[in-house]
Amino acid sequence: MNLIIGISGASGALYGKSFLKHLVTHQPGASALIISDAALKVYNQEYGTKITSREEYLEQVLEQTGNTVHSFTLYHPSDYAARPASGSARYDAMVIVPCSMKTLAGIRHGLASSLMERAADVCLKEKRPLILVPRETPFNEFQLENMHALSRAGVVIAPASPGFYQHPRNLEDLGRFMTGRIFNLLKIEHSLFQPWEGLS
Ligand SMILES: Cc1cc2nc3c(=O)[nH]c(=O)nc-3n(C[C@H](O)[C@H](O)[C@H](O)COP(=O)(O)O)c2cc1C
Repeated sequence: MNLIIGISGASGALYGKSFLKHLVTHQPGASALIISDAALKVYNQEYGTKITSREEYLEQVLEQTGNTVHSFTLYHPSDYAARPASGSARYDAMVIVPCSMKTLAGIRHGLASSLMERAADVCLKEKRPLILVPRETPFNEFQLENMHALSRAGVVIAPASPGFYQHPRNLEDLGRFMTGRIFNLLKIEHSLFQPWEGLS
């Protein structure tokens, strides 16, 4: 499976980290990875780190992962000539996790003002699956409208709102839950959480 993965500057760096960590051990393939400047800032804020490059981010995020079956090619968000900018490059789907309101608005309005937005634009025109994991609270009217318009255009809006009926014990469990839900959408086999079997 070849994905385009966007990590943008919404809060919830752990969701992006969890997705990459589990993808690398669950699903063979090679994905394009686009990390915004704001995503690095938010990661540093939330993990108390001082990461300055995308390479360093990837190294930290993937440290201590087991058997790696998936690789990543890093692309700078201003590299408009990169492979994910063209519909002629074949990818199976795109996921932005977490997705900021800014990037979400840019996709809705077709701005293509970064490689991440351009790649999402391409996914839409090529009718490829596009999954956005937004994080904000509360939402303003424009943000709700943007999500509604994107959903009508076939985009999956999968908010970063993990369920608590699985009794998460720590932040890692919250990440596993969201990653599992994205894996379900991508049809990637996993055992990141027990599927709900009903109460009776
Ligand atoms: C610590 C921190 C937390 C943030 N949390 C959010 C958030 O939860 N949702 C959001 O849409 N933007 C959030 N922002 C603002 C975005 O980072 C900002 O709009 C940025 O321009 C997004 O750029 P990007 O979409 O290119 O990553 C946050 C910023 C910081 C510094």
